Order: sequence, then C-alpha cells, then structure tokens
Amino acid sequence: MKKVKLGKSDIAVSAMTVGCWPFGGGDYWGEQSQKDVDSVVGAALDLGVNAFDTAEMYNGGESERSLGIALKGKRDKAVVISKIGPSNCHNVRKHCLASLERLGMDYLDVYMLHWPINKLAVEHFTSDKNIIETPPTVEAAYQQLDELKKEGLIRSIGMSNFGRTQMEEVVATGVQVDVNEMSYNIVSRAIEGEIAPYCIQNNISIIGSMGLQQGLLAGIYKTVEDVPPHQAHSRHFSQERGKGTSRHYEEGAEKELFEVVDELRKIADDLHVHIAQLSIAWILKKPFMASTLVGSRNINELKMNVEACSLEISNETEALIDKISQPVLDILGFNPDYYEHSSKSRIY
Ligand SMILES: NC(=O)c1ccc[n+]([C@@H]2O[C@H](COP(=O)([O-])OP(=O)(O)OC[C@H]3O[C@@H](n4cnc5c(N)ncnc54)[C@H](OP(=O)(O)O)[C@@H]3O)[C@@H](O)[C@H]2O)c1
Repeated sequence: MKKVKLGKSDIAVSAMTVGCWPFGGGDYWGEQSQKDVDSVVGAALDLGVNAFDTAEMYNGGESERSLGIALKGKRDKAVVISKIGPSNCHNVRKHCLASLERLGMDYLDVYMLHWPINKLAVEHFTSDKNIIETPPTVEAAYQQLDELKKEGLIRSIGMSNFGRTQMEEVVATGVQVDVNEMSYNIVSRAIEGEIAPYCIQNNISIIGSMGLQQGLLAGIYKTVEDVPPHQAHSRHFSQERGKGTSRHYEEGAEKELFEVVDELRKIADDLHVHIAQLSIAWILKKPFMASTLVGSRNINELKMNVEACSLEISNETEALIDKISQPVLDILGFNPDYYEHSSKSRIY
C-alpha cells in the first residue's frame, strides 16, 4: 500500500483512509455493529491501510468511541484523524480532550476544523445564537490548534471543506497546516477548479472524502428512487429528492448521474473489476490526491476497496471517465459545497 506524507508533517497516510462516519451507528448510516468495525479496522491495518477518519460530530461521538475500541492495543500502527465543529472553536482544547477521552487515546495524529468558520457553516452545527453571531476568528481557532500541537496532544493540523480564500486566511495565521479534506470523486470534481492547484502550490495535501459518492459510485442503486433521503440531499439530486432535508434549491443532475454509473459499469466490466474499484482507482490516479476516504461497512467491502488501491488504470481510461463525468461537472459547477446553492456556499 502506497503511503504519502501529509504536507510538511512526518505523518504518512495510506492511499486509502477508512471513513469512520458510520461507526457507532446512527440516523444517517443506520446500524453498524462493533463486530464489523473491529474486523474492518483490524483487516485494514493488516492490509497496510493505516489512516482512520472520524469526527466529534459523527453519531454524537459514538464514531470516535467505536474506533477507539477497535484500535485498542494497536494505537501505534494507526494514523487517527478527528475533527472539531466550527461552533466549538471558542474552546478547542476542551473539545480535543473530549475526543481523546472517547477514543481512549492520549494524542491525535491529525486534528482538523470540520468546516470553515462562517455564519452559514456555524449555523449548521449549533442553534446557539451567541455562537452564531460571534463565532471565534480563524486566527484564534488556529492559534489554539497550534498550542495543542506544542503540548503534544495533536501531531498535525488540518482543515476540511476550506475553499481557496479560506485556505489563504489560515495560511496567513502562520500556523502550519498540512491537509485539507474535501469531497472528491468522479461526480464531485469541484476541487479541480481552484482548490487543488492552491494546495499543490502551498504543500497542503488533499484527502478526498466520499470516494464512492455515498455508495452511488459503488453501483448500489439501480435507479434514483432507490437512493435513501439522507444520501440524496446533495446537489447531485433534485431539491425534491431529500424529502424536506435538501436545502440547495437546485434541479440536480439525476439523469446525467445515472448515465455516468451506466458507463462506469461498462468500463469496469471490460476491465474485469468492480465499479467501486474503478471509482477508487480513478481518484488515486489524480496526482493531487494524497488519500481517498472510503466508508467500508464490512470486511468484504474493505478487501475489495483495498485491492483497488493497487489497480492502475491507463491514461486513456482516466480521460474517458473525465469525459463521461463532464456533463455532471457542467451542471454542478465548481461550487465545492455540495449541499448549498452557490449563492449560499459555505466554501469559498
Ligand atoms: N470532511 C467531511 O466533511 C466529510 C464529509 C463526508 C464524508 N467524510 C468522510 O468520508 C468517509 C467516506 O464517505 P461516505 O461515508 O460519505 O461515503 P462513501 O465512502 O462515498 O460511500 C460509502 C458507502 O459505499 C458503499 N460501499 C463501500 N464500498 C463498497 C463496495 N466495495 N461495494 C459496494 N458498496 C460499497 C457502502 O454502502 P453500504 O452502506 O450499502 O455498505 C457505504 O455505505 C466518511 O466515512 C467520512 O469519514 C468527510
């Protein structure tokens, strides 16, 4: 398994990072047994996957708790990434210590701000009017993260869902940031606009999230009607699809999405690989991608996804997939916020 160092840090992450959002179980992803989590985490480490991505907000902290159980006795083999919500940045240390307690660990490898600090993003995490009206400054949040690093509670500092201007603000604080975690997959290519070039220029690694567009690019849905409401409230789908939870007021690109899936299936069949594997291999072909996050819910999915990390697709196949996914990119554009209309994007 290929490993890449994050930014200027000495932390090397595997080409695949295990997405731990479903761990602990919850509304969004449904039930997830600890037995499956234990076997996925154990097998990942055995197969050379060392990175695990969680967050304080995933299942109300249960994701961190579940990952901590699975990593008991194996902590030194893992790169543990967790995230703080933008509404909690008045006291970063308190939230970091709470994450560490749930994980049963005494340090995090990477600690990142889950979303940028702006009114729209903060509103999504809290209804507390005081925090919404007077959120902490980016400078204050990143200085606190730097203190945690000096104290040895975290090894590296990151950001997640930060656009170009927002990255510039963080860089201007003088605090070393090594990574930006952003949605990236065949049908979510917004970072190719301004974000990836800026990251390359500034030695900020990119970890791509939602590698399989929440299962769509693993071919688990035959028609758009099969996509559950939680997985259908992004801008890929019609505003109507998310059953009252969508807030982007866009028409989506449902027809084009399923055309991409159909085409991918054909290419995957020709190459004798699974569509999920082709989707992962395409991401890892991109030179700006340090690691792709994939949510593997059980050991079978994990093994298949790990195999994809050593699947090398040709330049022609990459270009063909770029071409077939262009209509989706044309509709969704370069707004990297896949949940909000561009006029209300939380990422800029
Ligand atoms: N920083 C952020 O703001 C952010 C945002 C979103 C996600 N993330 C991170 O990215 C991770 C991955 O994203 P995600 O969980 O949203 O979705 P994802 O990885 O794009 O898709 C996960 C889904 O794909 C299906 N799947 C995976 N491998 C498969 C295989 N080999 N064959 C068939 N189906 C397969 C599974 O479906 P089943 O449920 O049917 O098994 C799983 O639920 C998250 O866990 C989280 O760590 C970060």
